[in-house]
Amino acid sequence: RIEHFDQRRIMAPFELRLPNSAVTVHDPDILILGGGAAGLMCALVAGRRGRRVRVIEHANRVGKKILMSGGGRCNFTNLYIEPDRYLSHNPNFCRSALARYTQWDFIAMVDAHGIAWHEKELGQLFCDESSKHIVAMLLAECAEAGVEISTACEVSAVAARDGGFRVETSLGTLACESLVVATGGLSIPKMGATGFGFELARQFGHNVHPTRAGLVPFTLSGRPQEDWLPLAGVSLPVSAQCQEQSFTQPLLFTHRGLSGPVILQLSSYWEAGHEVFLDFLPGRDAAEWLRALKRDAATRSLEQVLGDVMPRRVAQRLVELQAWDGVLQTYRDNALDAMGALLNQWPVRPSGTEGYRTAEVTLGGVDTAELSSRTMQSSKVPGLYFVGEVVDVTGHLGGFNFQWAWSSAYACGQVC
Ligand code: FDA
Repeated sequence: RIEHFDQRRIMAPFELRLPNSAVTVHDPDILILGGGAAGLMCALVAGRRGRRVRVIEHANRVGKKILMSGGGRCNFTNLYIEPDRYLSHNPNFCRSALARYTQWDFIAMVDAHGIAWHEKELGQLFCDESSKHIVAMLLAECAEAGVEISTACEVSAVAARDGGFRVETSLGTLACESLVVATGGLSIPKMGATGFGFELARQFGHNVHPTRAGLVPFTLSGRPQEDWLPLAGVSLPVSAQCQEQSFTQPLLFTHRGLSGPVILQLSSYWEAGHEVFLDFLPGRDAAEWLRALKRDAATRSLEQVLGDVMPRRVAQRLVELQAWDGVLQTYRDNALDAMGALLNQWPVRPSGTEGYRTAEVTLGGVDTAELSSRTMQSSKVPGLYFVGEVVDVTGHLGGFNFQWAWSSAYACGQVC
């Protein structure tokens, strides 16, 4: 077990800072841009092969998203990693990397470092104590593999030269044989997210699919916001559906709109203007249930029977919104059928999402059609690689995105 992790202490021995002018830094074989999940993983795998590796991170520390992930406990992978849990213009692209470095491989590394973990639900694996242990593990492996890491280092220009690359940085000019772009997506700019990787891809002639925020809460405005505002802070399990996709997980009403795991999942499939359908009685045919209750409990009100199977405040609000007063026996069967249909498919039209400010991931990105699925190498520029979130592969909520970072980085680190 790793006690009291201090990143500054661990980084000190191999962090190299040089004045802007006199550049004496050794050129690495491999330069990795971005010290997040994918960048560090790629670095340690390539370093173990004996390659000279340098990671350049523009933020003041590496792995910031790992540190803040999973509420500080990092949902580092999922027991049920499958290609169909990923969105991409090419849904098959992720298969090769996921098969060659699996969740079991990452779990083995976590175990080897004595990091205690547990399954929370739905196969989601979290650290028992802190995400810091995952960053400490990656840094310890990097140190062991002789990887050099420079933080607070800006990249100003990249050019292909002499079969390799010349990279202008705030530490000076670096030349390398292989250049790995691991700069992530646009989510949470406050944590250091930039569109740098997308710009670099375009500079080298790559297509970049339009990006948008994923795993993000919905906002409501006007009447829908007024309808649901009284429930802000209330959570309940629902099924939510949009565009043929549905998920059954908790919904959270917020002051701005709708959130909770079920909404984050659905948001990756949602497009502006589309309606979302909420099933407040998942797994139950509400019309049939109401008809049966009319026979067995005819004098109970709708608010009472709904209050038995969902939070009372939600039952009360649904009844208020539809003016469903009176006891069950006062309703005809066809009226109960209409109520049931609504309870199973309640339409809500989001006005938008909270955007990159709070999104966990960025959908879209570097077109996989121009990358090797075995190595992540560009088919346009030999020696150029893209790994992690910058690539057009986005996972569901629940550890799938970190696993993509580990797997894609491993595939690249083995060959770059
Ligand atoms: P990542 O964003 O981790 O790293 C990119 C790095 O590049 C950053 O350190 C950045 O500062 C650096 N960089 C950017 N531009 C640069 C430049 N121009 N020069 C140098 N460096 C540059 N996933 C999951 O599976 N389980 C979870 O629990 C969570 N939880 C979670 C919480 C929150 C709040 C967010 C925002 C996201 C998650 N995720 C998640 C998603 C997960 O964090 C994400 O998919 C991975 O971090 C992606 O790894 P990358 O290394 O590709 O990008």
